[in-house]
Amino acid sequence: MTDIVSTPPIVEAPVKPPSAAWLRLFALVYDPFLWLGEIVGMRRRRRALLADAYGRVVEIGSGTGLNVAHYPEAVTELLLTEPEPGMRKKLSRRLPRISCLAGVVDAQAEQLPFADESVDTVVSTLALCTVNDPERALREIARVLRPGGQLLFIEHVRSRSRLLAAFQDRLADPWRHFAGGCRCNRDTVGRMRACGFSVAARDVVWHGMPTIVHPLAMGRATRS
Ligand SMILES: C[S@@+](CC[C@H](N)C(=O)[O-])C[C@H]1O[C@@H](n2cnc3c(N)ncnc32)[C@H](O)[C@@H]1O
Repeated sequence: MTDIVSTPPIVEAPVKPPSAAWLRLFALVYDPFLWLGEIVGMRRRRRALLADAYGRVVEIGSGTGLNVAHYPEAVTELLLTEPEPGMRKKLSRRLPRISCLAGVVDAQAEQLPFADESVDTVVSTLALCTVNDPERALREIARVLRPGGQLLFIEHVRSRSRLLAAFQDRLADPWRHFAGGCRCNRDTVGRMRACGFSVAARDVVWHGMPTIVHPLAMGRATRS
């Protein structure tokens, strides 16, 4: 069995961010790159996760807006935050066709422009792997959530397989350069718990995507 718990590298060395030109290109190829994974399961998982979203919702790192079509009627306001201009452009184009309750906000997850305890649901799909400072982002999420509010997430995380985790560590740098700053070896669920969230999550497979981004952790975190 390879299901061995490995020690997560909680302290990450500071890194140079990807160039603006690369991030623009990444925004252009993002949907085609995820296309197979979306049709063989990820789209279904997004819908299942977001079925629990309600009230005033803030999504962090919305990218090109692959979640937007899946929000249920219980959502009364949808604030899609995204700091990268190339992603925001694609997100804004997708938006008018889908929802009149939604707005696009230029913001990093580490500094959310929303009042304390003003949000019912925060959504993060494949975003906490990319934020520069995940602890700060999680503290911001905790700050904006109302008591009883929830963080719904699907994140690819550091593998519990020692072999795969070593592979992720080895390829973390080239992957980060390619994938717009994404860290393939982050223990995001461990970080949520360390930041004081109660987490209910399960591992699922991201079919149609490279092994380096396995497994996905899917679940709900609440402020404890
Ligand atoms: C892998 S994409 C995920 C996009 C989308 N959430 C999805 O599920 O397809 C990661 C996104 O996080 C954004 N991002 C990068 N740094 C961020 C930060 N500090 N705060 C919030 N989002 C960030 C990127 O621009 C990108 O759109």
